[in-house]
Amino acid sequence: MKKLKVILIGAGGRGTGYTDIMAQMPEKYEIVAVAEPIEARREYIRKKHNVPEDMCFTTWEPLLELDKLADVAVIATMDQMHYEPSLKAIEKGYDLLLEKPVTPTPEECYDIAIAAKKKGVKILVCHVLRYTLFYRTLKKLIDEGAVGDIVSIHADECVGNVHQSHSFVRGNWGNKDESSFMLLQKCCHDMDILQWLMGKECKRAHSFGSLTHFTRKNAPEGSTEFCLDGCPHMKTCPYSVENVYLGEKKVQWMRDRVTDDLNATDEEVREALRTNNYGKCVYKSNNNVVDHQVVNLEFEDGATISFNMNAFNKGGRHIRIMGTKGELSGSAGETKITYFNFESGETKVITPADAPLGDAIDSGHGGGDAGIINVLYDYLTVGYEGDLLSEIGVSAKNHMIAFAAEHSRLTGEVVDVEEYTKKYSKGL
Ligand SMILES: NC(=O)c1ccc[n+]([C@@H]2O[C@H](COP(=O)([O-])OP(=O)(O)OC[C@H]3O[C@@H](n4cnc5c(N)ncnc54)[C@H](O)[C@@H]3O)[C@@H](O)[C@H]2O)c1
Repeated sequence: MKKLKVILIGAGGRGTGYTDIMAQMPEKYEIVAVAEPIEARREYIRKKHNVPEDMCFTTWEPLLELDKLADVAVIATMDQMHYEPSLKAIEKGYDLLLEKPVTPTPEECYDIAIAAKKKGVKILVCHVLRYTLFYRTLKKLIDEGAVGDIVSIHADECVGNVHQSHSFVRGNWGNKDESSFMLLQKCCHDMDILQWLMGKECKRAHSFGSLTHFTRKNAPEGSTEFCLDGCPHMKTCPYSVENVYLGEKKVQWMRDRVTDDLNATDEEVREALRTNNYGKCVYKSNNNVVDHQVVNLEFEDGATISFNMNAFNKGGRHIRIMGTKGELSGSAGETKITYFNFESGETKVITPADAPLGDAIDSGHGGGDAGIINVLYDYLTVGYEGDLLSEIGVSAKNHMIAFAAEHSRLTGEVVDVEEYTKKYSKGL
């Protein structure tokens, strides 16, 4: 069995997550180098994978200056730092596991896709939802004809109010000028999975949405800039640091991001919250991404999708697929799908069958993280070519749906997705 050598660029949450999974498959993967500026993260990778000291870099440039030293580069830096390392890694001949969004602009997305094609390297984009049991089962049922021809899909991406406040108000993705716009960063997954399930070309996109709640004008009377400045709403505000990071209701993975130290004491977390962005009032932060957005899509044959991204809920993805012969519905976090068959008039609950794509290994995103790492191996070794693959050509095209919808939100136009894509795809 061929062992793939891997270099990791960006050892944050995602990069560490993928390489942790690879460490559970030592016969398939070996991590041989890392580039990461934060010492504790770099050290974690060095120790976990026995990476030699001289193969640990503080930034990606010197690593990618070296002659090609591995098969795969995992690019898991932040949204605005995918483009340059990807192009450099492609130039060196690496295959890539590339985090989504590919890049924050449509031009750059296709630059990467075109460069990969020219060089003959393979890129798998981390649309991890495709690799989960829930969505794979939906796809299988659709392909087997359970709903006949799809007429319409309704999908909700419920971000969750606290998750929105942590990641998309206070956190890394709150300001689109520092990361990317919401529909791209959070929902390029949804645009991809919905097009995949629909199995048809997207023709037109229309969208509305805005940032309505997490703004200064909604700050409660007397609230302070930082929660720990003595804000009188500490006990009642659902977003106060007491509620999200310190008290009984705290969410551990969110608290861990405050100091980036998994073992931080309450006092250390409290100290960090006095000055860093996670301690800011959610109504007085540097955020500008939308907190709700609807997207209407029209596909060939007139089939439609209505999609709703929204912060004001508990969280979770929900879907209803309506076809000429039946209806499928379910929630991604649950392990059951409800199927209503028009012919028999019966409703049955389907539990997604076990499928050999990594679900045996506990991993994030409902098994999708392990799933993509398994498929990556097959893609790069035995040449797996199923329609499950979120390879760069497919991904770049589906990113265009998100770009087109955002264009619609900003201009009020109904956007012709094919024309929009043609402008950037340069014939790919
Ligand atoms: N597929 C998914 O479901 C999913 C989920 C969350 C995030 N993401 C995406 O994954 C990417 C990474 O997200 P994350 O949560 O891991 O962020 P993160 O901030 O935890 O990780 C990014 C890492 O890149 C490092 N970095 C910064 N400059 C660097 C440089 N010059 N060279 C090398 N490394 C450098 C940072 O120090 C950090 O550790 C983002 O694009 C994000 O949008 C995808």
